[in-house]
Amino acid sequence: METAAGMKMEEAFELADRVNRISVSQTMMVLQEAERYKARGIDVADFGPGEPDFPTPEHIKRAAIKALEENRTKYTSTPGIAPLRQAVCDWHAAQLGSSYQPAECIVTSGGKHAIYNAACALLNSGDEVVIPAPYWVSYPDIVKAADGTPVFLHTRAEDGFRLRAADLEKVLTPRTKMVIANSPSNPTGAVIPPEEFAKILEVCKRHGTWLMTDECYSHFTYGHARPYSVASIPGSKNRLIVAGSLSKTFAMTGWRIGYALAPKPLVDAMTKLQSQSTSNPNSITQYAALEALRGPMDTVTAMLAEYTRRRERILAGVRAIPGVTCTTPEGAFYVFPNVSAHLNAHAPDSTAVARELLEREHVAVVPGDAFGAPGHLRISYATSLERIEEGLRRLARFFGGSA
Ligand SMILES: Cc1ncc(COP(=O)(O)O)c(C=O)c1O
Repeated sequence: METAAGMKMEEAFELADRVNRISVSQTMMVLQEAERYKARGIDVADFGPGEPDFPTPEHIKRAAIKALEENRTKYTSTPGIAPLRQAVCDWHAAQLGSSYQPAECIVTSGGKHAIYNAACALLNSGDEVVIPAPYWVSYPDIVKAADGTPVFLHTRAEDGFRLRAADLEKVLTPRTKMVIANSPSNPTGAVIPPEEFAKILEVCKRHGTWLMTDECYSHFTYGHARPYSVASIPGSKNRLIVAGSLSKTFAMTGWRIGYALAPKPLVDAMTKLQSQSTSNPNSITQYAALEALRGPMDTVTAMLAEYTRRRERILAGVRAIPGVTCTTPEGAFYVFPNVSAHLNAHAPDSTAVARELLEREHVAVVPGDAFGAPGHLRISYATSLERIEEGLRRLARFFGGSA
């Protein structure tokens, strides 16, 4: 159709139900808003990022440059180059005690892609997927995009938001196809203790449901918590999917590289899907990932030491604000305070609080609503101690108190 001015108007069209079922990541929306403030020259105390503020380690970058110079720029086999699949299995065995063969490994364009592939390969319409809440924003939408039905299991702040096998058992139905466990958790930092993880695995086995363990933050644990994989339990592999990512562990978010470890028939199905969608992950990135997994782990240790310092400061600062409570995160790089005492007619939910914080104090946080946890805010400490101090001052001014 043409307007009087001769301009073509968009014709209305119908999108697929798949698209209408899902929404744009709310964490992305906050980051975009904060970016607009920064573009206007405003000094934002940015607690939004879900990614390390450290650069990718030098040896990994050099491996990518070498791969480019050697013209490793062609298609590779769909599930990743053979040495990388071997390296994933070797690294996972050495670091987390599993025993996978390369045929049980697929390399993907990020951890999210591994989760997406697994969901698409397993879920049929009406299949239920248990998602413990608070949850990482993408799980419900990935499940919905794959035709499944998310079933939320609310964990308790008194339990440090840890998933418990006994609670899981209560929500399983004959339609449950999969349970997602994310430890350490984004957004709460909750870590499921190994004994509890073993019980969760047992419950899943008894009910014949898949357990997907998202190990994205495996190497950022604090206090008594240690990197752990339920795949280290002998006999665990039958209905288990390990979703892994190099994004956080090696500060490689932009490179887009992750993997899944799972029974071979499922890996083959995921490979089939991948072959008709994204094909192989970026070839240069695969060579960088090979170096990351085979090379020294000292940069990971250094990042963890810095996160440990920041975590202490930010926890103390947030807890010093009147009316704010906060569980102790045992992993990842977020604190997840409860600010519901500060909700009011003007700011009735955490989304409104986050918006006000950005407007009035130029502090960027992600509202708990995005993670299925109203009344909470996710504060990332993937930012320097100096910026944390500045952000805490502003938070204290906003809520009233001294951080
Ligand atoms: C819990 C969790 N799992 C998976 C991912 C996916 O990471 P990527 O796709 O960058 O590997 C993220 C990223 O934020 C995450 O927080």
